[in-house]
Amino acid sequence: MRSKVMLSGLIVMVCSLALATAAYCEGGKFSDIVDAKSTLCYPLELTFKRPSGVLKTSFAPVKFSHGQHASVACVTCHHMWDGKGEIQGCAEAGCHDNLKDRQEATSYFRAFHDKNADNSCLGCHMKLNVERKAKGQKPLSVAPCSNNGCHVAAK
Ligand code: HEC
Ligand code: HEC
Repeated sequence: MRSKVMLSGLIVMVCSLALATAAYCEGGKFSDIVDAKSTLCYPLELTFKRPSGVLKTSFAPVKFSHGQHASVACVTCHHMWDGKGEIQGCAEAGCHDNLKDRQEATSYFRAFHDKNADNSCLGCHMKLNVERKAKGQKPLSVAPCSNNGCHVAAK
């Protein structure tokens, strides 16, 4: 009996959460001075689910916050976006879809770890760290791979 009550409570909670997130984009309410012609919905914070077929790793899954990256233009990362249509995930067919060979140019791994790309996580953070060091700021944590600012090891 008790578990039934808890379960229905949970269902109500999950449904209202689903509605709450939907309300930000589709049919969302905006201030009176805005006449929205189109809307785009995106996750403010996310955790990467490695696509099935990707090489196994023991490193912790990475969390990403769009909010933390608000100073970076959408198209820096979503470099194939036309600014109008749908934004696709990184591992779409024809994109970073090589799940096995980490060093290959179109590999899923390289999309995030290419040290020479300005728009990969590691590439941008390493470049930023050179600037931060020059300014005497604390560097973004990029090492060790097993426990850094991105792969945060469970305590
Ligand atoms: C610093 C890099 C970065 C910036 C800047 C950025 N994003 Fe993202 N975004 C990501 C990553 C990484 C993902 C997860 C991609 C994946 O699915 O593998 C993502 C996911 C998304 C998704 C979901 C895609 C899917 O898989 O369905 C949308 C929509 C999106 N972003 C919109 C935006 C918009 C709009 C902006 C600008 C306001 C923006 N992003 C700025 C990195 C970025
Ligand atoms: C084009 C540059 C750029 C790219 C690409 C980028 N970031 Fe960042 N990242 C930043 C900036 C700028 C900050 C904010 C630094 C600050 O708050 O001072 C940041 C901060 C972070 C932080 C907080 C770290 C800390 O120590 O405070 C995390 C975690 C993070 N990024 C993860 C990611 C992940 C994961 C990706 C790839 C999916 C990514 N970033 C891609 C520029 C970038």
